[in-house]
Amino acid sequence: MKKIAVVGTGYVGLVTGVCLAEIGHDVTCIDVDQEKIDLLKSGKSPIYEPDIEELISKNVASGNLRFSLETQDAYEVDVIYIAVGTPQKKDGSADLQFVEEVAKRIAHRVKNDVVVVTKSTVPVGTNHFILKMIQEHLQAEVRVDIASNPEFLREGSAIYDSFNGDRIVIGVENDRAALILEEINKPFNIPIFKTDIRSAELIKYAANAFLATKISFINEIASICEKVGANVEDVSMGMGKDQRIGSQFLNAGIGYGGSCFPKDTNALLHIANEAGYQFQILSSVVKINETQKSVLIKKAKERLGTFHGKKIALLGLSFKPNTDDMREAASIDISNQLVEEGANIIAFDPVAKNAAKKILHPTIQYVDCIKEAIQDADAVFILTEWKEIVHFPITNYVKLMKHPIIFDGRNCYHLEEISQHSIDYYSIGRTTSKGIDR
Ligand SMILES: NC(=O)c1ccc[n+]([C@@H]2O[C@H](COP(=O)([O-])OP(=O)(O)OC[C@H]3O[C@@H](n4cnc5c(N)ncnc54)[C@H](O)[C@@H]3O)[C@@H](O)[C@H]2O)c1
Repeated sequence: MKKIAVVGTGYVGLVTGVCLAEIGHDVTCIDVDQEKIDLLKSGKSPIYEPDIEELISKNVASGNLRFSLETQDAYEVDVIYIAVGTPQKKDGSADLQFVEEVAKRIAHRVKNDVVVVTKSTVPVGTNHFILKMIQEHLQAEVRVDIASNPEFLREGSAIYDSFNGDRIVIGVENDRAALILEEINKPFNIPIFKTDIRSAELIKYAANAFLATKISFINEIASICEKVGANVEDVSMGMGKDQRIGSQFLNAGIGYGGSCFPKDTNALLHIANEAGYQFQILSSVVKINETQKSVLIKKAKERLGTFHGKKIALLGLSFKPNTDDMREAASIDISNQLVEEGANIIAFDPVAKNAAKKILHPTIQYVDCIKEAIQDADAVFILTEWKEIVHFPITNYVKLMKHPIIFDGRNCYHLEEISQHSIDYYSIGRTTSKGIDR
């Protein structure tokens, strides 16, 4: 059992802290956000993530887990994980201000030998920069080792992923750090891939860039499907059955969003550029994603002519199902444009309502069920494939809408089923049974 501090209690830090406590470590989750720490101390999770509140209660009760603001005591540990945000700067690069701040605080606070492990996604060279910062500001004579341990969890299944990951990547430069990290992670029983620090840092960006590439690739195939009368779902399935390709991340839609892919692809482009290399595939991936975001609006404009005075229901607001994370969600650009062009918006999301209210246009009205959202709507936009939306009976659209028109950005419904009803249905990369471009 190790004494561990996790600095930054957001999506990654909280899940990391909770899971490390669950496998028996003594964990303190630290954050500078008083509201977040108060909420966690009251047993509530500031984020929506399946199973997280149960694990918080269980591990707080067993004494393995606690939450703290920045204090001296909180840093009296063997290992410190850095899990603060690394948002995108205007030039596309990763903003390291929070990481820098944590490095300085570690230097001022530590009183014993520690291993500093970076979980945040950071550009190549950042771990060494962190070590330099700590050594420059260190107040005590202690040994500090560093390790890179990039995170691969998916929001919405973060706890499951932490216990069932494909690999744990550890970048180290000496045996001491390697042994400690291996010991910490052993109970997860997940294969550990050990490498040097710079490679570990790049693995995270390369993995996200590759997944984003799969998404943009299938979205381009979807556009071709619409032109030639093919069905992107069948194309994707036929491709994905080839194990060299794999079926995941081949769902056509309205582009990737969220807190990672957009910023990490841009950061990797920046890293490559700084290194004097033009990463051509990735530049295209990013451009394609920008175009893809406007595909649904384009289809809707062609069908409706104008949005002015139209009542439009938005179903699904978070960037993907099973999370309340609104960062870079498709709903942001789409709702802004609809509002700008005079639409009246009624929105439904099973969990992201409160998060959405903080970001989306104040004129948007929120309701608690799909039926209420689509009642008498002129058109429906489906933006997130929540199971509540996927399993919503199609007959309800016919019953409740004036004339059912659906713009489905996530291909939630089967074309065969849709074709049995009188619904104008537009999805991504799929033609209707009549072979008409939809
Ligand atoms: N969210 C994901 O799905 C995901 C997955 C893999 C990797 N990552 C990476 O993990 C990192 C964290 O992402 P996130 O989504 O958890 O971010 P987040 O914004 O949800 O959380 C960051 C937390 O750090 C806190 N913080 C900022 N400065 C601090 C300081 N000086 N001391 C203590 N706490 C401080 C903030 O208050 C916030 O609670 C990023 O680098 C991200 O790219 C995220």
